[in-house]
Parts: sequence; structure tokens; C-alpha cells
Amino acid sequence: MADAYDLVPYPSVPYAQAHADRLAVMAILHGLSPAPVERCRVLELGCGEGGHLIPMAFSLPQSEFVGVDRAADAIAAGQTLCGELGLGNIALRALDLEKFPPDLGQFDYIITHGLYAWAPPAVQDKILAISKAHLAPRGVAYVSYNALPGGHVRLMLREMMRFHLRGVEAPAERIGQAQVLLQWLAAAQREGNPYGEMLKTEARRALERRGQFLYHDELTEVYAPVYFHDFMEHAARHGLQYLAEASLTELQPREFPQQVLDKLEELASDPVLRGQYLDFLRCRKFRQTLLCHQEAELDPAWKPDRITRLWAASAAEAAPAEGAAGAEEFRTPQGAAMSTAHPVARAALRSLVEVWPCSLSFAELLDRVRQRSGLPSRAEDAGALAEILYWSAAAGLVELHAHPPRCAARAGELPVASPLVRLQLRQGLEVSTLRHTTVKMEGALERELLLLMDGTRDRTALLAALSAFAESMDPQSRPRVGAESLEHALAKLARLVLLLA
Ligand SMILES: C[S@@+](CC[C@H](N)C(=O)[O-])C[C@H]1O[C@@H](n2cnc3c(N)ncnc32)[C@H](O)[C@@H]1O
Repeated sequence: MADAYDLVPYPSVPYAQAHADRLAVMAILHGLSPAPVERCRVLELGCGEGGHLIPMAFSLPQSEFVGVDRAADAIAAGQTLCGELGLGNIALRALDLEKFPPDLGQFDYIITHGLYAWAPPAVQDKILAISKAHLAPRGVAYVSYNALPGGHVRLMLREMMRFHLRGVEAPAERIGQAQVLLQWLAAAQREGNPYGEMLKTEARRALERRGQFLYHDELTEVYAPVYFHDFMEHAARHGLQYLAEASLTELQPREFPQQVLDKLEELASDPVLRGQYLDFLRCRKFRQTLLCHQEAELDPAWKPDRITRLWAASAAEAAPAEGAAGAEEFRTPQGAAMSTAHPVARAALRSLVEVWPCSLSFAELLDRVRQRSGLPSRAEDAGALAEILYWSAAAGLVELHAHPPRCAARAGELPVASPLVRLQLRQGLEVSTLRHTTVKMEGALERELLLLMDGTRDRTALLAALSAFAESMDPQSRPRVGAESLEHALAKLARLVLLLA
């Protein structure tokens, strides 16, 4: 019988939160000394077409990557892409986890994304057994899963869809009819009814996703969201302990009243118990949990000096803020925001805003802060900067890196777009950024510009080729091409982190 994932391919994309760099950052912040990202071994279980692993292998040529998945067509598609990119540091293998070869060695980072909660108990067990047996002593394992109690809401809709689809087998029809039901459920709800609002939100969320995701994530045979404490009990049975979540912003509850935060603090010595009550409070749906060996010595208490080993970046923009004199507001396109008049915080954030999408090491940033603030250098500035970076990262305003992506802040004389992006554009509109995220390139002219940027053309050649391309377009929708619009497009593509340094 054909594998469901071969029957209906599952588009696989990069996930910044499961990049080895993120795993390393979280490990460093929690007192573990992980392997350097630029020279490490990474394993992904259930890697699909390698959408997550291939961009990592491309940007970390000295590291080694192994991906396994039982969907043979997905693995073959990934292998073709690796061949086209000439990658010699990645092996994608078509095999069932049940038959995982014991001789693949140890890995510094083991990633399992989007599989645990959709797998039968024997496969769940195998994921954790492999994560234990093949994890290097200082290694970090990432496992994402749908969590309870929030998973109950998704479970409810899934049960409705599966009831509606009884007797329907053909994948396209299953997707189509499920979407019709979701639209019907969402449109029927009146405002002000809490049950209706919840149903509508969840139905719309499912409708926003591509049909293939709906087919697999919502309608599969097995769907088993778990409570965090149950997942951790399972991990502990395999000799793995809790390190952290992959996202720093999720670890710091800021949205609750002080008395609730105080109560949570009483549980600080037991991070799993604290995390479980936090999940109750947040009606948590999804977790991206990092594990390490039970024997590893952790020190989760926040230590500012750990941040001095990291790099920082920020996609925020600065604007004058109301309130305190000299205050400025920093806001990212995703909505994370902070207003501050603190001279070190302002100078740090302004320095990061200026260099985006590039990063600055802690030492570089401290230098710039000292130059910019014009204040005499003081020993305590380093401590203040570390605190500011940590809390800005927890608020989603700053990204921390153990190994920052190699990208260009602006287009050079002979601009180069990532070769991976140029290959991906043959298949569709979605491309992987050098920050390990996905962007949709809607504009035909921008797509053509990316295809042209192979490092052989200067601006004059790019302009000539783009003008010829524009001439071939429908006169009704033909965009204007000129030196100014080219510069504008190049700046946009650099900001989207698609240009190589
Ligand atoms: C929901 S997809 C996730 C793919 C990818 N990790 C992502 O997040 O985009 C689950 C993947 O796990 C694979 N898979 C499921 N059971 C497996 C097993 N027993 N052994 C190996 N791969 C398996 C499927 O073929 C599929 O590619």
C-alpha cells in the first residue's frame, strides 16, 4: 500500500525554532555546552523532502546532516535537490524508524518535528529511544508535539471532520469536503457566543493552511496530543531530561497578573510542573521541547555572562515614543514592541536595527553601544547589555544566535541570491530565507530578479535583463523597471534575508 505521505506529499519547510543554531542558543542559556553549530552532526527523524534539513546543510558546509523518512518519494525529491545543490554533507534515507540502523553514530542535535503526536505508541517510543541512543553527551534533542489541554479543541474539530468524511477515500475529495464543512461551521457562528467564537477561530486556522496539511495533520488515522507532564514522563523513561522549550518567548509568562506569576515562581524548582500549570493557564496546543541526557548537569538559573558568547539581531524598526523624554519605540513586523529611554538599551537596539539582517557579536555590540551612547565606558555596561538582550529576546524583539546566518545586509556589486532559492522558485512561490524561515514571493519581477542574481550580473546587466523580462509581460500588468525600482527591489530582497554575503 502506498505511504499516505507519498500519496499526498507534505510540503516540508525550514523551521527557525528547530535549527541547530536555536537548539545551541537554548542549551547555552540553560547551562549546557553544546557542540559548535558550524561543526556538528544533525539527525532529523521524519524529515520528509528535507525542507528543514537541506537549507541547514547548505549554510553549514562543515557540519554533517542525516535525515530519515519512510516516504520514499519525499526522500527521492530531497535527494534530487541535494544533488542539484551539490551538497556533499547530507544523506537522506528512505526507511521506517522501526528499522533505524544502529551504526549511524552519535549526533549533536536530533530533531523530530511534526511526528510524535501523529504516531502510534510504538513509533513514539522509537523516537525517544533513538533520541537517547544516538545523542552525543552534550547533545540536544528537539521533539515537537501537539499538547493538551489546547489539543482538545483541535480534536473536537477533527472528530467532526472525520465523521463528515465517513466513506470518502479519495484524498482530493477528503480535503475538499473537509474544507466545505469547516467553512459551513465558521460561517454559521454568531458573534458573542464563546463556543461559536472558539469553533470559528479553529476552523479558520485550519482553512488558512494548505489542503495537504489538512489531509495529514487533521484527518490522519492517528492523532494523539499529550500533556507536557506525560510527554516528560515518557522522555524520562528513556533517560532524557527537560532542557527548555525551543522558544525563549514561550518560557517567560508575561501576560498574567502578578499573583499568578508569584504562584508559578513557587514551582520554579520543578520546571516540568511549572510548565504544566502554565499550559493549563494558556490552554496550550503545541510544544517544541528540548531534551538532553539525564546525566547532563544543567543550571537553568539565568546567568548574564552566557549571553556574551552569542550574537544578536533585530528586525525591529525604531520610532520616537510618547512618554519619557528621549524614549524610543522599537517594533518588529510581527508586533513585538518595547519603549525605552535607557541609554544602553536604545543604543543597543539602534545598532541592531542598523545592521539587520546581519547580527553583531556581544563584543561588537558592546563597542557600538559605548561609541553611540557617548557615555564613559563602565564595567557594568556589559552586565546591563546582557540583561537587555535577554529580556528583549524573551519579548521577541531580538534574535539570539550561536552561529549567525551568512547573509548580505545589502546587495553588492554582483549580487548573489541563495542558489537554494533559485531552485525553489522553479517549483513554486515559497522560498527558504537564510534565517531559516519561509517567504512567499508574490511579485513576478522580484522572482525574475532572484533568478538573475547568480553573481555574474552587475546592476546594468540586471536592469537590461529585467527590462527584457518586463517587455514579455502583459502590457496591462507590466511593472515599470528603472534604476530606482531595481535598487528598491534589491533592498527588499536583502531585508528578506535572501542575498548571500
Ligand atoms: C507531518 S510530516 C512532518 C514532516 C517534516 N518533519 C515537517 O515538519 O515538515 C511526518 C513525516 O513523518 C514520516 N513518518 C511517519 N511515520 C514514520 C515512520 N514510522 N518512520 C519514518 N518516517 C515516518 C512521514 O512520512 C512524514 O514525512
